[in-house]
Amino acid sequence: MTGGALELRGLSKRFGQTVAVAEASFSVPEGRLATLLGPSGCGKTTVLRMVAGLEAPSAGRILIGGRDVTALPAAERGVSLVFQSYALFPHMSVLENVAYGLTVAGVGRREARARAEEAMAGVGLQGLGARLPSELSGGQQQRVALARALVLRPRVLLFDEPLSNLDARLRRRVREDIRALQQRLGLTVLYVTHDQHEALAVSDTVIVMRQGAIAQIGTPRDLYERPADRFVADFIGEAALLPAEVLSVSAGIAALSVGPLRLSLPANGAAAGRAATLAVRPHGWRLGPEGLPARLLRSAYLGSHLEALFETALGEVFATLPLDAPLPPPGGEVRLAVDGTPGAAAVVPEPPPG
Ligand SMILES: Nc1ncnc2c1ncn2[C@@H]1O[C@H](COP(=O)(O)OP(=O)(O)OP(=O)(O)O)[C@@H](O)[C@H]1O
Ligand SMILES: [Mg+2]
Repeated sequence: MTGGALELRGLSKRFGQTVAVAEASFSVPEGRLATLLGPSGCGKTTVLRMVAGLEAPSAGRILIGGRDVTALPAAERGVSLVFQSYALFPHMSVLENVAYGLTVAGVGRREARARAEEAMAGVGLQGLGARLPSELSGGQQQRVALARALVLRPRVLLFDEPLSNLDARLRRRVREDIRALQQRLGLTVLYVTHDQHEALAVSDTVIVMRQGAIAQIGTPRDLYERPADRFVADFIGEAALLPAEVLSVSAGIAALSVGPLRLSLPANGAAAGRAATLAVRPHGWRLGPEGLPARLLRSAYLGSHLEALFETALGEVFATLPLDAPLPPPGGEVRLAVDGTPGAAAVVPEPPPG
């Protein structure tokens, strides 16, 4: 099997006693966008820095276009990194910032300028070349950083939390712009974020990391509907994790008993007679005449829906409910049923701890 445009084989990094990355292996096919997703400190930036050539791995190999680049200096790898902070030169104009990498690589002034202008037009920065970075909005600065990376025509483009300095509304727009540009130009991208919505929205493949190791690799839908473990189930999309008993499995469908609830769901590797975990998404709950007895702790009105937190014998349940859901006042009792729609709930093969 060919390894794709970017391939990591058993890549590890230690800093003294800290194992920042533990034997990471995955590949990103040409023209695809893969996201490294995981909580703060799980090793995402360290993976990117090793791919970029800014950090030497403790073990393992990095291949780009099938060539081993593990020992190559950063400038010879055909990789560009867009930093979280953008790292623009404050005293240089936008045009000079974008052209900088070309100038350093020895490209002539005229050609560097022409290519920088082309890259700027590609990300919607026409006419802003003479400004200083401080004279741009946050979203525009982000696009300067992007143009500066694109102008080098990298084989692999790396992003480290590129949207974290933008407000929520702009974040959505810029992430859509990045995804559209990546697809239009057929760019091979490794993208780092700790925001699961961002990861689901932009990715062909998501690589979930936990404490330096890879927890699961899959499409956004795989991860959401077939989480490999409790960590992934909770990290991707949030879930109430409830102890379940697998009554039977037939044709890949598991019959589950979860307190008073009886459900049939794709087995996802769970086995009959064993304990497993049921992960129920916040939107997967309904108020029913029957179901899990629950006491309302608090609720909030969010315009498009209600949010409610319940206490149950199986643990706390966070639910999003339609605006007309008949919620009692705090302290009131309800019954919670699990919706039958796909994505509302998933079986996690591993049992709850203890
Ligand atoms: N230069 C360094 N020296 C020592 N430890 C480091 C160094 N760089 C990173 N680490 C440690 O390695 C681990 C992974 O760090 P890394 O920056 O890769 O995490 P991250 O997933 O990018 O986190 P965040 O989402 O907060 O950016 C952390 O425990 C961190 O403290
Ligand atoms: Mg980081």
